[in-house]
Amino acid sequence: MHNTAFRHLNLNFYYTAFQVKSADLPSAIQGARAFNVRGLNVTVPHKVAVISFLDKIDQIAQRINAVNTILNIDGELKGYNTDGIGALKAIGEENIKDKAVVLLGAGGTSRAIAATLQGVCRQIIILNRSTQKAVSLAKELEKNRQSTILGLALSKKNIQKALNQSDVLINTTTVGMYPNVSETLIDKKYIDNGLAVFDAIYNPFETQLLKDAKSQGAYTISGLDMLVYQGAESFKIWTGIEPPIYVMKEAAIKALKTYEVNKSGGEC
Ligand code: ATR
Repeated sequence: MHNTAFRHLNLNFYYTAFQVKSADLPSAIQGARAFNVRGLNVTVPHKVAVISFLDKIDQIAQRINAVNTILNIDGELKGYNTDGIGALKAIGEENIKDKAVVLLGAGGTSRAIAATLQGVCRQIIILNRSTQKAVSLAKELEKNRQSTILGLALSKKNIQKALNQSDVLINTTTVGMYPNVSETLIDKKYIDNGLAVFDAIYNPFETQLLKDAKSQGAYTISGLDMLVYQGAESFKIWTGIEPPIYVMKEAAIKALKTYEVNKSGGEC
């Protein structure tokens, strides 16, 4: 999607991927400095470890404690995190502002989204299979004193109670991801048509949770949108130019479809 956007805007940039072993992370960053690249994306498992090799960290990335985007300004490397803002843009700020949100999961994606949404929404209830992870994430973020944040067990009772008092449901767990495409954590009878439902999963584009939400008349947003918007935010950081969202989204859909067919013969 980045190369398509660069070509679309006639920009002299090229985006490519390198697989880096954990032990090679310091030299990979050193290499990026030596090659004087404009920027980098960083993904699992390096998002936290890379922080110690950078010169500056943006405030949101600091709060998330993970970096997925690096900008090289005259040899000085600054780390950002666009995962949360990608989710916020995908869902639409108007659907989040002063609203109550239920967040399923307490892993890296949940953390990025919660840290970005706090201060924008009124309340966040984090529900996680391992209760302690939800509780400590909520406690840690509550310190910023921006929104009410609760961490609870992912029980039927808590799901029902939380959804009753919320406007937005966000799934950041891996439940429903290919190949387990018929799985969902939420019984559709708890979803009403006033709810906005976002699933961070983009394979498949429409998860069982989103299918159920749609059938209940709820507003649904796919993880594909988050993928595109987080990329678009990185694009903006590197180029200073407004990204061509629709061109990027089309390219992402095309690439994911091709990738899935080549990888497994499965449908994306
Ligand atoms: P990511 O970085 O994408 O958030 P992660 O850090 O591995 O990935 O987090 C995965 C999340 O999915 C976790 O919240 C995990 O719950 P636990 O903390 O209890 O492991 C959640 N998850 C994965 N499989 C699950 C399942 N079968 N039921 C409920 N939650 C599940």
